[in-house]
Amino acid sequence: MLGHRILGVMKSLINSYCAVVVGANGGLGRAFVERLRADPYCAQVAALARAGDPVQGDPGLELSDEESIRRATAWLRDQSTEWDLIVDATGVLTLDGHGPEKRLRDIDPAIMARAFAINAIGPALLFKHLTPLLPRRRRSVFATLSARVGSIADNHLGGWVSYRASKAALNQVMRTTALELRSSHRHAVVVALQPGTVATRLSAPYRNRAPVVLTPGESARRLLDVLDTLEPAHSGEFFDFEGQRLPF
Ligand SMILES: NC(=O)c1ccc[n+]([C@@H]2O[C@H](COP(=O)([O-])OP(=O)(O)OC[C@H]3O[C@@H](n4cnc5c(N)ncnc54)[C@H](OP(=O)(O)O)[C@@H]3O)[C@@H](O)[C@H]2O)c1
Repeated sequence: MLGHRILGVMKSLINSYCAVVVGANGGLGRAFVERLRADPYCAQVAALARAGDPVQGDPGLELSDEESIRRATAWLRDQSTEWDLIVDATGVLTLDGHGPEKRLRDIDPAIMARAFAINAIGPALLFKHLTPLLPRRRRSVFATLSARVGSIADNHLGGWVSYRASKAALNQVMRTTALELRSSHRHAVVVALQPGTVATRLSAPYRNRAPVVLTPGESARRLLDVLDTLEPAHSGEFFDFEGQRLPF
């Protein structure tokens, strides 16, 4: 059991499983790719980034461009018809130099619309195009990185309205996806994850007051451990890196 945790082996998926990480050049995305590449049970990791990788043939994936998501999906399908684990590690907090709003008067409708486009609509398109790649007859996992501040029930501070609201929308998109997949993919686990406060580019300006800051590698390892324990009955829920269920 200890070896399992240290190695970050995904024992719940088939041996020789295939994994996709979207946002693979981000702080958490890169850490997921590294962890999965180190897992001896993982046969293949497709690392999808916005810029793409001409050497690997990866066409790139821009969340606000559905056609690029279609192309990336076709590229994945050319390599394998079934992908057992999909991790969406994309997301934005600061947009064009605009950090999260402190007060309502800071709302800029164009920035708020972009936050929704990238944090909620983009992931909805990932669910739309990538869920058909999940195997129907065996276990699969599709995890999207959300944020605790997207929880409406847990919002006792206010502020950060665009990020909070776009992550709340993402949670609803995830939940709706999970419910739709219940009939077609009864072994699938579709969840939203809170990675903790993690030392990445996204959190750099805002993490000074966080009591605990995780490295991307530690967060990715803990999240993979959580995913490894979840059952289809947990599909549609929101979990943190300690495996605690979070309220919507
Ligand atoms: N770090 C934390 O403390 C923390 C806490 C709670 C939740 N989260 C969530 O965890 C996720 C990953 O965050 P991170 O900390 O790893 O941030 P990060 O290092 O900034 O990575 C974000 C990733 O999203 C990609 N991305 C952004 N806009 C995109 C677009 N329009 N099309 C395609 N890809 C796009 C980025 O690609 P480019 O490099 O090309 O921009 C990058 O790969 C996010 O959803 C974030 O909200 C993070």
